[in-house]
Amino acid sequence: MDLPIRPRRNRKSAGLRALTRETLLSEGDLVLPLFIHDLEVDEAIESMPGCMRWSLASLVREAGEAMELGIPAVVLFPAIDDSLKSPGAEECFNREGLVPRAIRALKAAYPKLLVMTDVALDPYSSDGHDGLVKEGEILNDETVAVLCKQALCQAEAGADIIAPSDMMDGRVAALREALDREAYEGVSICSYTAKYASAFYGPFRGALGSAPKAGDKKTYQMDPANRREAGREVRLDEEEGADMVMVKPAGAYLDIISDVRGKTSLPVAAYQVSGEYLMIQSAAAAGWLDEEAVMMESLLAIKRAGADFILTYFAKKAARVLRS
Ligand code: PBG
Repeated sequence: MDLPIRPRRNRKSAGLRALTRETLLSEGDLVLPLFIHDLEVDEAIESMPGCMRWSLASLVREAGEAMELGIPAVVLFPAIDDSLKSPGAEECFNREGLVPRAIRALKAAYPKLLVMTDVALDPYSSDGHDGLVKEGEILNDETVAVLCKQALCQAEAGADIIAPSDMMDGRVAALREALDREAYEGVSICSYTAKYASAFYGPFRGALGSAPKAGDKKTYQMDPANRREAGREVRLDEEEGADMVMVKPAGAYLDIISDVRGKTSLPVAAYQVSGEYLMIQSAAAAGWLDEEAVMMESLLAIKRAGADFILTYFAKKAARVLRS
């Protein structure tokens, strides 16, 4: 064939492929989500094979291993005993609660490890919603006031990055103001900016026993059908003072990651959520997919779409591959 232009020339050898590679994934791009509970023993999570609910001692060990692997940050999710849940979710701002104790233990053991915390009421709410519920409605402004107390409690314990995942309107501005008022101006806000009402969160709610008792989250989380609306949320979060913006889920929302990347100069995070993890993990466990290859490809795709960093249950496994 008379073919002067042959794209395959750039793929001819490993060296050429390395030179022409557009996207690089590194362990420094990963954040490890960790589930914790207030027990001395660790517990396998039935809805998320391969993940555990850790005791505080094990949490510290896990985080230490992640750090050794070059992972810069962990994010904490607490399973709260039913006896501590209430309609007002007051346990979320208990200074001696599970999360503040976990933060203090982690920062004492590894001052350089970044500790990121989830700001939302669902683990603490007897209704299982991210906000306060009144006659079936999720209250916005009243919820924001509680979120501020929760964030202050986490900041006081030493959290580096607080991550509101509740999707209430105006919470980023309110959190920034509350933190600054108490002289926590050094604490970052990573906002779950475009968080969709997704069925991919199912296994996570099993891990925490935090599924809504009634209704769904569609009046606060975004409609999966909407793309332009993500741009609106980004603009608001940027104006309200977010330091980083997040898209969640990741794999089925690469168009949103790409859009958000184009609309802001802030760092963009993406969350490869529990359902995404399980699709790969379970197919691999059945012998149907090559876990390592598919895991790495899924993470690379999220970066290629425009994410600067990725929250993923594969963080340690992926870091090991990247280091080998
Ligand atoms: C709670 C929260 C959820 C996730 C992170 N924070 C669940 C939800 O919104 O119902 C999901 C994470 C995952 O599925 O891995 N605010």
